[in-house]
Formats: sequence, C-alpha cells, structure tokens
Amino acid sequence: MPLQALQLLEKKIERQIRQFEQKNGIRLDDEVRFIRSWMEKPLAIGAVTPSGKVLARTMARYVDPEVPGPVIELGPGTGPVTEALITRGVSPSRLVLVEFDPAFCRLLRARYPTATVVQGDAYSLRRVLGDFLRPPAAAIVSGLPLVTKPLRTRMRLLHDAFSLMAPRAPFVQFTYAVISPIPKAANGMSAEASERIWMNVPPARVWVYRKH
Ligand SMILES: C[S@@+](CC[C@H](N)C(=O)[O-])C[C@H]1O[C@@H](n2cnc3c(N)ncnc32)[C@H](O)[C@@H]1O
Repeated sequence: MPLQALQLLEKKIERQIRQFEQKNGIRLDDEVRFIRSWMEKPLAIGAVTPSGKVLARTMARYVDPEVPGPVIELGPGTGPVTEALITRGVSPSRLVLVEFDPAFCRLLRARYPTATVVQGDAYSLRRVLGDFLRPPAAAIVSGLPLVTKPLRTRMRLLHDAFSLMAPRAPFVQFTYAVISPIPKAANGMSAEASERIWMNVPPARVWVYRKH
C-alpha cells in the first residue's frame, strides 16, 4: 500500500477511536495506561479501568464547591474523579492530588498544571501533606482500594483525614465491595451510602463518612 494511503487509513482509524471515546465518555489512552499499571501492581491499583463518568459524578456530588479550603483527592489515577470535581465547580488550584504511581503523577501535572500533585503514600497522609496543607480541607475524596488494607490501616487513614478537615467535612470513598469499607457503626462518625451504581464496570457504591 502506498504511504499516502496508509496515512489516510491511520487518520481514519484515529478519527473513529476519538468518536468512540466521545460517544462512550472514555479516553482509551487512559484505559491503556491504567491496564498497564494494573498489570504491574494489581493490588495497589485495585481496578482494571478508570472509574466511569456516573461514578465520578456521584463522588463529586458530595463535595460542596462553595465550602472554602483545599479539596484533597487520594489515588486520582488518570483523573476521572478530578475531572468531575472541576466540572462540579471546584477550581483546579484548590485540588491537592495524592498519587503513588509516578506515571499517573506526570499525567496529572500535565493535565492540571494549577493543581498540587503530591507523589506519595496516602496512608501516611499527615506526613505526606505536612508541607502542602494550610487551611483545613473542605473535603477528601478517595479512590484508594481501601479493602486491600487491614482494617486498622483504614481506620488510621480515616482518623488522619478527619484531623485535616473542617468539622463535618465529608470523606468520600467508592468501593466495589458490597459492604462499607469502614464499619458503619465506628465510634464518633456517621456513614451514608449512594445507590449502587450499576452502570460502572464493575458496579460500585459511594460511601461518605463524617466526624460527629
Ligand atoms: C482504583 S484506582 C482509582 C483511580 C481513579 N480515582 C479512578 O477512579 O479511576 C486506585 C488509585 O489509587 C492509587 N493508589 C494506590 N495506593 C495508593 C497509596 N498508598 N497512595 C496513593 N495512591 C495510591 C493507585 O495508583 C490508583 O491510581
């Protein structure tokens, strides 16, 4: 096949991919990045694909953009929830994104140049955020695969998170599990859940925890 015909074919395929992405609300580049990271570290990544739009929107819905202060996202990955937070009205400059994976961090810095991207372990939250956080956070939104960690570690993360946020501010977490990743009756906090989001692959639920 002559070179010109090959280039035309390439362009046509590229156009069809973009149309498919637009129609389905996904970025295939992100899917590929995600699968690659998942193959390297399945337990840390905790999902084979980025969250879908409905799940991301449901998470963002629990954040009130009018409440002042930073909004912290734990485990943003390729940024579907970040995007939903921005669409909800949270300015990117208020976002503090804590991500373990260096490749995801590079992508997030390029995509959200005014956000603060911190490469580090979200389970050491107070240490990792020490230098970055001044006023109390308005909300913490987490995509961490919490259930892969012992309950003690999850509870410590939640208590650290509460200590960095304004009173009654939400800690928003999604899970594929059928039960809450934090015991609902844990002392000193309330828990509420969204409907199960069947349109996500796999289906997920959003939990919101607040300190009394
Ligand atoms: C299930 S994915 C969710 C990604 C994205 N929020 C989404 O909804 O598509 C979990 C993300 O948490 C990150 N992660 C896992 N353990 C982490 C840790 N200890 N500290 C910071 N990020 C972590 C992974 O690299 C991955 O990006």
